[in-house]
Amino acid sequence: MSSSAYTWIRTRDGSPTLWSNELGESFRSTKGAFTESWVAFVEPVLKAAREGGGAVVGELGLGPGTNWILATLAFRAAGIPLRYAVVERDPGSFRAGLERWREEGPALLAFLASKGLAIEGEAPIRAALAEGTRALAGDPSDAFAIFPDFASAAGTRADFWFHDPFGFEVNPDGYSVQTLREASGLWAPRGRGFSYACNRRFQDALAEAIPGILVRVVATGDAGLKRERMEFEWHR
Ligand SMILES: C[S@@+](CC[C@H](N)C(=O)[O-])C[C@H]1O[C@@H](n2cnc3c(N)ncnc32)[C@H](O)[C@@H]1O
Repeated sequence: MSSSAYTWIRTRDGSPTLWSNELGESFRSTKGAFTESWVAFVEPVLKAAREGGGAVVGELGLGPGTNWILATLAFRAAGIPLRYAVVERDPGSFRAGLERWREEGPALLAFLASKGLAIEGEAPIRAALAEGTRALAGDPSDAFAIFPDFASAAGTRADFWFHDPFGFEVNPDGYSVQTLREASGLWAPRGRGFSYACNRRFQDALAEAIPGILVRVVATGDAGLKRERMEFEWHR
């Protein structure tokens, strides 16, 4: 798909992501869109949720929904309940994502199978996309809701937070103390957050916005990508 706003590109691991023509930035890493989503966000949350028996994931930045579709299918394959609530101010990229994921069923299933998660057939993908379509139309389910801003997401109690508002260079406001304070209003009393962004200014803003927060940089174990992700842990 190509429009004045976005262009689909194929990344180094073979998976697609959107390119923002306005920002000159890809929505996921050009080194591997599915791989980045997996190592920075979905894999650690799935592991933690297996221990806890379920998860409420909150996200800043749905974009085309790479994290959302992979997390939804991975949790379904693992038989773990997932609720996903996201703050996204421009749902146009998700509309494009819904069309794309409809065509990418075999690639999504093959990627999850490579992670040891077996899904029989494409029915779970169709079910996820139907949920996505409803959420986009303003009719959220228990499993998935899209909010245009932090205020409308009030009441969300996320155990896990995906901080994914584009890179610091193109969207420094996404990492500001003010944004992080607003995000933390959607968090459960304790939980963990994830980001592929590891820069010092983000770490400092987290420390200022949420006193007592623990921040660590963790190796992703993937040599083909950025080698680290950031994790933070709060307890209030
Ligand atoms: C890098 S993309 C997200 C990628 C997505 N999580 C995925 O896995 O495909 C960043 C998204 O964050 C959104 N965004 C950035 N800052 C925001 C803000 N302050 N409020 C709401 N959405 C924001 C942008 O519109 C964009 O769609």
